[in-house]
Amino acid sequence: MADFDLLVKGGTLPDGSHADIGIRGDRIIAIGALSGAVAGEVIDATGDLVAPPFVDPHFHLDATLSYGTPRINASGTLLEGISLWGELRDTATVDEMVARALTYCDWAVSMGLLAIRSHVDTTSDHLNTVTAMLEVQKIVRPYLDLQLVAFPQDGLYRTPTGRTNLLRALDMGVDVVGGIPHFERTMEEGRASVRDLCEIAAERGLPVDLHCDETDDPLSRHIETLAYETQRLGLQGRVAGSHLTSMHSMDNYYVSKLLPLIAEAEVAAIPNPLINITLQGRHDTYPKRRGLTRVKEMQAMGITVGWGQDCVRDPWYSLGTGDMLDVAFMGLHVAQMTAPEQMSRCFDMVTVENARIIGLEGYGLHEGAVASLVVLDAGDPIEAVRLRPDRLAVVSKGRLVSQKARNDARLALEGRPQSVRRRH
Ligand code: FE2
Repeated sequence: MADFDLLVKGGTLPDGSHADIGIRGDRIIAIGALSGAVAGEVIDATGDLVAPPFVDPHFHLDATLSYGTPRINASGTLLEGISLWGELRDTATVDEMVARALTYCDWAVSMGLLAIRSHVDTTSDHLNTVTAMLEVQKIVRPYLDLQLVAFPQDGLYRTPTGRTNLLRALDMGVDVVGGIPHFERTMEEGRASVRDLCEIAAERGLPVDLHCDETDDPLSRHIETLAYETQRLGLQGRVAGSHLTSMHSMDNYYVSKLLPLIAEAEVAAIPNPLINITLQGRHDTYPKRRGLTRVKEMQAMGITVGWGQDCVRDPWYSLGTGDMLDVAFMGLHVAQMTAPEQMSRCFDMVTVENARIIGLEGYGLHEGAVASLVVLDAGDPIEAVRLRPDRLAVVSKGRLVSQKARNDARLALEGRPQSVRRRH
């Protein structure tokens, strides 16, 4: 009888150590030097990076792959995107949304992205978005962990049924409480929405993840209220603030007070560099603000920060591939995280740190963990961020779910090697 159902041999782990990984059923049951072991199936990862799967803590699966429908976002702004999506949300059918989302999940699996937290718009009374995403969650469950956030895109109080529909979505089984305080009518209503949403989460025992201060307005300070309410209600460790772009523009003295409050409340931060860098600063002439929140400064305070993707081919963003290494690559540049330990941290931010933010259970490469991993055509995490290389193999819950042949370029140059891989 075989020792393992699946054996991943000879890989380099993100910490630089070398180990074989033995899998039975959906679990890693042995890790280390496993020479001589017999396995039903063997993946040879010699010389390649073997990492736990990528995790995206911020996405919009209901809107993905809809770019250009009903038309392209001409101004490129967040607000035109919201308005375009408002039209699509009421014309798209459940079947269409399920089909688009499943196609995106196929892309994700092929890139080793096996856990996604997706916000789901709860604005429209028909809640077709919620029906569709719950259906997708059920279909992909065997191979992809999909967490859903009830997201009142047009405001909790700004539409007559905003609050009721959010509660209906939670009753239908949506996992996380969302919000958008900077989009409410006034600062006061924004603040009240944060309090209300945190109380709803406390009452129902749910996590919180708000689109928070996604604006260039330096006076948008809902993150302060989010930290306060987290502390007051004892929600430490299960609250995240997504975007936090206003922090880019805030007064430095105020930030010196704010960061310790966020750290004390154990609120995590989820910047979305691809989107923040394209949507923010649109009202500026020059110099133009980047709109990315203060990543290195938060990390120095011990705040957990993860890179999110936010959008792929939707009313807000025309590009995107489902590759979390694209996200880490952009984040590294915009946050100027160029020291070796910072580059390596960018890889952690799209793997282990994101897994911690969304509370993923059994994550990692250790005995007893869920047997999910990705084999990359790179030697280490920094090289992975630099190359954004092919995912040679993806294992989800013990099953080999995606494979790609190594694809070196063939050179036709006299006196030069016949192929080139760009690995160093
Ligand atoms: Fe978002």
